[in-house]
Amino acid sequence: MTEDPAGGGMKPSPARMYDYYLGGHHNFPVDRQAANEIITAFPDMPVVAQANRAFLRRAVRFLIDQGISQFLDIGSGIPTVGNVHEVAQAANPDAHVVYVDMDPVAVTHGRALLATNPNATVIQADAREIDHLLENREVQQLLDISKPVGVLLVALLHFVPDDATASQILAHLYEVVAPGSFFAFSHALDERTAAVTPEVLEAASGVYQRATAPFAARTRERITRLVAPLELVEPGLVYLPLWRPESADDVLLNEPARAAALAAVGRKR
Ligand SMILES: C[S@@+](CC[C@H](N)C(=O)[O-])C[C@H]1O[C@@H](n2cnc3c(N)ncnc32)[C@H](O)[C@@H]1O
Repeated sequence: MTEDPAGGGMKPSPARMYDYYLGGHHNFPVDRQAANEIITAFPDMPVVAQANRAFLRRAVRFLIDQGISQFLDIGSGIPTVGNVHEVAQAANPDAHVVYVDMDPVAVTHGRALLATNPNATVIQADAREIDHLLENREVQQLLDISKPVGVLLVALLHFVPDDATASQILAHLYEVVAPGSFFAFSHALDERTAAVTPEVLEAASGVYQRATAPFAARTRERITRLVAPLELVEPGLVYLPLWRPESADDVLLNEPARAAALAAVGRKR
């Protein structure tokens, strides 16, 4: 995509910036410029995005192994290879998947990609309006939330900087899903490393401030509070690459702190 359909004045979008980090083509000049500013401040950004996608796939495989056959992926982003429905339906062709994103480009591409897949869809909705999201006709057609569901909040809640709002999203979902449901979660970490300095975090929040959603990494303590309702499965809340790695070649497995993000999977008690 090279055109700016808005003809200027368009804001960078986290969904399209993430697509750019992953080497995708569903992004505009305004997204690439913002993403390149992030990469200049934090050169690991593309590898971190890959580590995050790898965690997402491992978590979906784990949930399938736990008997989960329906997924609600909120903040799903632009469909790229190795999507939730591909991983889930490879293991269970009857798995149902609803993707949710507030970015219209993510939704348009997702709908085109899934046009021939009767068990998966994408809807446009805001994670901060869970009731509205659950009332969506397609959500209700594809998911039966009276039965266990896998809720994916992967690299989403750092785009909801207010702690009370972020906690409310998880608490509300926790309340409405059936016992035995699982949540998979990842989140950018505010922890000093050689690569993550206060200046880098400041630069990142500055760039996303001009985007369609603001960004704020959280400390380990604040992330721990966010996932407090969940009964975490082993190994708990860990650096992204350390969550049930599958191979010695997993991205950043030998330098997990470089992922600058934590991940966990937990169940509704
Ligand atoms: C970094 S991407 C993560 C994509 C995917 N979950 C993954 O981890 O590979 C974050 C996504 O969250 C979406 N997003 C941010 N705030 C949102 C909100 N309030 N409601 C719905 N989607 C949101 C963005 O549009 C973006 O596509």
